[in-house]
Amino acid sequence: MSKQYDVLVIGGGPGGYIAAIRAAQLGFNVACCESNAYADPKGEPRLGGTCLNVGCIPSKALLHTSHLFEEAGHGFADQGICVGAPIIDVARMTARKDGIVKQLTSGIKGLFKKNKVTLLNGHGSFVGRKGSGEGEVWQIRVGQELVEAKQVIVATGSKARHLAGVPVDNEIVCDNVGALDIDAVPKRLAVIGAGVIGLEMGSVWRRLGSEVTILEALPDFLSLTDVEVAKEAAKLFAKQGLKIITGIEIGDVKVSQKGVAIDYTDKDGNEHKLDADRLIVSIGRLPNTDGLNADKVGLKLTDRGQIEVDAHCRTNLPGVWAVGDVVVGPMLAHKAMEEGVMVAEMMAGQAGHCNFDTIPWVIYTSPEIAWVGRTEQQLKAEGIAYKAGKIPFAANGRALGMGDPSGFVKILACAETDRILGVHIIGANASELISEGVVAMEFGAASEDLARICHAHPTLSEVVHEAALACDKRPLHF
Ligand code: FAD
Ligand code: NAI
Repeated sequence: MSKQYDVLVIGGGPGGYIAAIRAAQLGFNVACCESNAYADPKGEPRLGGTCLNVGCIPSKALLHTSHLFEEAGHGFADQGICVGAPIIDVARMTARKDGIVKQLTSGIKGLFKKNKVTLLNGHGSFVGRKGSGEGEVWQIRVGQELVEAKQVIVATGSKARHLAGVPVDNEIVCDNVGALDIDAVPKRLAVIGAGVIGLEMGSVWRRLGSEVTILEALPDFLSLTDVEVAKEAAKLFAKQGLKIITGIEIGDVKVSQKGVAIDYTDKDGNEHKLDADRLIVSIGRLPNTDGLNADKVGLKLTDRGQIEVDAHCRTNLPGVWAVGDVVVGPMLAHKAMEEGVMVAEMMAGQAGHCNFDTIPWVIYTSPEIAWVGRTEQQLKAEGIAYKAGKIPFAANGRALGMGDPSGFVKILACAETDRILGVHIIGANASELISEGVVAMEFGAASEDLARICHAHPTLSEVVHEAALACDKRPLHF
């Protein structure tokens, strides 16, 4: 007899494990199946998906170590701390990162036990629908087993897109997986794609001593971010020695045991060759629908291969939902988790809430870049009259004390109603500061509301406060 569940979640990444836990909290009998993408040394699947295993968490661990390394080499002396030239032990740095991954991924197994979610080891694929009326169930093959569930949540995530004709071996040519495990600081590192991974991983290896060149196809740098933020970032990254060349077209890429030779054409049509010891390819990600049998059961995909869903993550099939990187929208762990919670609550007959207009973005470079809501260029394109309040961190005592005064906070508010439409931060701890903007926007706050809130002194959050005051042309410290 097949195993039977109220809910089967396919995929144990942030979208899947959170949906499973929330559904179990709401009283469903839940199983989550995970294929062996990130098996531990014993072959047991690790939960947490891309995020915990080869994404958010390991990359931030390396960003932290490399930041400390750079501070020790260049920042300490300014503050009178003399330590000599630091030496990086790459193996130890990587082992520390692996330890964090292990701790967190096994922590999710613990959360499954606590919440009585059954973990099934194996790749999930649709077989079909069985029964009728109230007793109708989905049949899913998980590994060699047949499982039945009244409702299914597909949370199969995404994988790195590779360059046609350039195989990834994760030694010389790396995607996000190999980029997190490079075993020695390459003298010359090439990166294709100046998106989030390119900038974060490029920053890690540059700080550790690589000569990093990032080749980007689009003519504009960071085209998703507010144009002033992108301009400031380009200036600061150039000063750090991160070489970013936009508007290029990649030609032949030759790979040998020694490294790569990349032919590319620049925006004026001139041809160049870039030689490097390692290459990171970070040109976006593709939804994971391989082996799901989507065709067989008629699960509709978009023309970009994502599972088609409505605003509540319902697919075209009854009782089948999809969340996270495998559906349309930003490929972000917190978006996947929000969708997972929403779906579980919808299944339980609750309202389910996910505000796609207030999903924050963060790029964990130095300085960090974070934003929520619309950019100035979007507001202009939409013909919305707005006012802007912009304050530099250089006017803030805490930022100066930290030796980190670069960047600014910019708040965009509706000219008519004063409602906050966007918050854009480039500067120290932007990843934490952006939460204030998210909360303000979630509750429909006006810039005047932020301006009237007491902010602790001396903190970086005072720059957010001053930016709100600046929307009404009355900043107090600038
Ligand atoms: P995934 O995390 O991809 O998980 C899907 C899981 O499903 C995987 O474990 C996979 O093995 C499993 N699976 C696939 N198919 C099947 C199947 N048929 N049966 C069973 N199991 C299956 N986002 C942020 O918000 N902040 C960050 O700082 C950040 N940093 C990142 C850094 C890097 C280098 C990368 C690559 C990504 C980063 N992301 C970040 C993005 C984030 O990792 C993803 O948005 C998030 O993991 C998506 O969650 P998910 O559950 O949809 O999919
Ligand atoms: P990305 O979409 O952020 O950037 C890819 C870049 O590659 C784009 O700028 C694109 O124009 C460029 N590109 C595409 N094809 C190219 C080509 N042939 N030649 C040169 N350039 C080319 O994708 P990335 O960096 O791979 O990251 C994938 C996703 O993972 C991100 O979109 C994000 O959703 C998630 N992520 C999130 C992080 C965070 O939240 N801090 C960190 C890392 C990843």
